[in-house]
Amino acid sequence: MKELLVNVAYLVAASLFIFGLKGLSHPKTAVRGNLLGATGMLIAVVVTLLDKRIVDFTMIIAGLVIGAVIGTVLALKVEMTAMPQLVAVFNGLGGGASALVAGSALYENPSPDAIFVSASVASGIIGAVTFFGSGVAFAKLQGLMKERPIRYKGEQVVKALVAGVALLLGVLLVLNPSMLSLYWIMLAVSSVLGVLLTIAIGGADMPVVIALLNSYSGLAASATGFVLENNALIISGSLVGASGIILTNLMCKAMNRSLLNVLFGGFGEVKAGPEDDIYEGKVKATSPEEVALLLEGARRVVIVPGYGMAVAQAQYAVRDLFNLLESRGTEVDFAIHPVAGRMPGHMNVLLAEVDIPYEKMKELEEANPLFEQTDVVIVIGANDVVNPLAQTDPKSPIAGMPVLEVWKAKTVVVIKRSLSPGFAGIPNPLFAMDNTLMLFADAKKAVQEIVNALKEG
Ligand code: TAP
Repeated sequence: MKELLVNVAYLVAASLFIFGLKGLSHPKTAVRGNLLGATGMLIAVVVTLLDKRIVDFTMIIAGLVIGAVIGTVLALKVEMTAMPQLVAVFNGLGGGASALVAGSALYENPSPDAIFVSASVASGIIGAVTFFGSGVAFAKLQGLMKERPIRYKGEQVVKALVAGVALLLGVLLVLNPSMLSLYWIMLAVSSVLGVLLTIAIGGADMPVVIALLNSYSGLAASATGFVLENNALIISGSLVGASGIILTNLMCKAMNRSLLNVLFGGFGEVKAGPEDDIYEGKVKATSPEEVALLLEGARRVVIVPGYGMAVAQAQYAVRDLFNLLESRGTEVDFAIHPVAGRMPGHMNVLLAEVDIPYEKMKELEEANPLFEQTDVVIVIGANDVVNPLAQTDPKSPIAGMPVLEVWKAKTVVVIKRSLSPGFAGIPNPLFAMDNTLMLFADAKKAVQEIVNALKEG
């Protein structure tokens, strides 16, 4: 009877996870989705605590309090732009915890069967790769180590060898479950593998790697679920594994790159092209006052935010501009590229933070047909996502990536500090087009000045 109740509770928790994930697929329902997922987790944790032979409640409560304090402080303090690093830390800790729990379960089981040991081995290898891989991802994004991909001769052979040794140690452990030291040696080798796999990837590709590591952390948790015979952990781990890989795939698709290209392509190595040829004598600089004049005469305006808006924390100023223009009868929409910024939904989150209505945020497919009927497009700190080279230069690293075709509007105003390239490290012919005006400034300052000029005008 007790087992039935526990399993029903786990089923409820698993259903809440699934409804939670569904809610997270749209900004409008994301908060509710988050709550549903959290409720599911609370049910799973409480039921597990009541059901299992708990070692020591004092330790668990102490852990809960410490974790809650650290989590709350981080959630309040971490800047939106540092979110990918934070997620990397979360994934890493999840993977590390799975590996340690599986290891200690091995110690507690005097006569483990092959399935038990195999699940522990899977948890150990994937968990250690996730922990150390996430550590490198964090260090690269936090600027603690160089973002450049670290490449060397015979790199793939070295990685294959290290992976082979980790697997071999795992097989040996399955065959000799009493040799527990093999588990820790396997963990050490897998840790080296985690580092080797991640140092070869450029810092700018880290968000994709983090989504992949997120998936790994789910797989490690799921394997630990088999070790502990805990259905809730198996299900929730599988859901994290599956959603992580779907997200990874979506991000790769939006950048028009394969996962293999992200993992082995050394994208961060791309050097900036011969900018002078493209820009020489063709770039027209403008001022906030001139942009305000343009906006006064515009009936339809589209704002394209990018990574620079996040860096400058310009979303509040952008909200003021949006409200001012709408109050004057100008129709204003936002065009959001799926990989604008540095993490999925980056722009949506920033704009939602300042209460821009969801229906004003147009996705790429919806936005592109709008540009032809648009008087002024304001590109705020975006670069790659509005680069026509994606359509015109098959050799470009972003060739084939769907882009926002802002150049089809009557006038394009690009707000950024210089002609420096964006994430892909390539020049952008948009900046030199006849209908483009460059407003060279920090995004927040520039938008505030446009708002002031509009108010005075
Ligand atoms: P980017 O192409 O990276 O360009 C951002 C631009 O913002 C830079 O050229 C920079 O120019 C400008 N900028 C930086 N700080 C600024 C500030 N304070 N004020 C004004 N401008 C500032 O950004 P994007 O167009 O958003 O494209 C995103 C890129 O990241 C894509 O290539 C995408 O594939 C990649 N990526 C995205 C994701 C996700 S999931 N979003 C994940 C991995 C990679 P200045 O230095 O001249 O100011």
